[in-house]
Amino acid sequence: MIQVSNLSKLYGPRLAIDHLSFEVSKGEVVGFLGPNGAGKSTTMKILTGFMPASDGKASVAGFDVFENPLEVKKNVGYLPETPPVYLEMTVGDYMDFAARIHQVPKDKMNSAINYAIERTGLGSVRNRIIGNLSKGYRQRVGLAQALVHNPLVLILDEPTVGLDPKQIIEIRELIKGLAGDHTVILSSHILPEVTATCQRIIVINRGKIVATDTMDQLQARLRKGLIYALQVKNPNPAAIDALSKLPGVSSVSPAGTKLVIEIKPGGSEVRDLIVETAVKTGMGVLEFSSEKVSLEEIFLQLTTEEKV
Ligand SMILES: Nc1ncnc2c1ncn2[C@@H]1O[C@H](COP(=O)(O)OP(=O)(O)O)[C@@H](O)[C@H]1O
Ligand SMILES: [Mg+2]
Repeated sequence: MIQVSNLSKLYGPRLAIDHLSFEVSKGEVVGFLGPNGAGKSTTMKILTGFMPASDGKASVAGFDVFENPLEVKKNVGYLPETPPVYLEMTVGDYMDFAARIHQVPKDKMNSAINYAIERTGLGSVRNRIIGNLSKGYRQRVGLAQALVHNPLVLILDEPTVGLDPKQIIEIRELIKGLAGDHTVILSSHILPEVTATCQRIIVINRGKIVATDTMDQLQARLRKGLIYALQVKNPNPAAIDALSKLPGVSSVSPAGTKLVIEIKPGGSEVRDLIVETAVKTGMGVLEFSSEKVSLEEIFLQLTTEEKV
């Protein structure tokens, strides 16, 4: 449904996204996860046909975003970072306007608007002025305008940012409910957001994809344990140095008598070697275990280049 290949964007001399390639299949809900400034909004603006790329290719619903931006817009619903809502309009009038902007045919206007209002639970506030609604409801209006032409693809840029916890849960539920009928990409700079709604995540940092995995695979990676904890009697620099030089070990950080040993991603089985080395170097092994790593930590590992 979405194909991106070697997509790059320069703002002047600044490379905001750097040769991104990924695909999203029909019906998938994919999370675009990365810290602020990673390039999420830039990618989304390109995919929705709102901004040209500097290089590379992208197609949405079978249409090239550069050659057929109008066809792309017909098939995409877009919730930008700042929802394009007019605060002085009523919800109903605004939806009328949104339907016209999205070129919904006249005879289908009413049913299209009703569909969007119903899916986003806006029925009870249809005649209210948008400016008087809570932030959560305003965000629903933003979602409703993205849905009004019943697009194949929904692109939602940080859909829950700035909402309170209750509103966040409501919007997440709403997005989950849309999943079956639409292909969804949503962006977030916080992990719980994507774990709550997405089947797959694409982690992006400084304009580059640093990981892409299904939630299940990520969890499996967690269970496998990429970090071990070695409790010893006598930690000493020479022994620690020997451990950190083992193939497959990426770092050893001493914390008192506990050594936190990080394994290279995809590294081979090194547990025997670690224990053997610890014994040989006379550190005296007290305990060896797999350190539980939270998704947050993995995310940090994926998006932090230097250890601090
Ligand atoms: N219009 C712009 N002009 C110049 N630089 C921009 C512009 N928009 C974004 N950038 C820069 O591009 C990078 C990616 O930004 P953005 O796509 O907004 O990231 P994200 O949405 O992940 O926070 C950032 O370094 C940002 O400062
Ligand atoms: Mg952004």
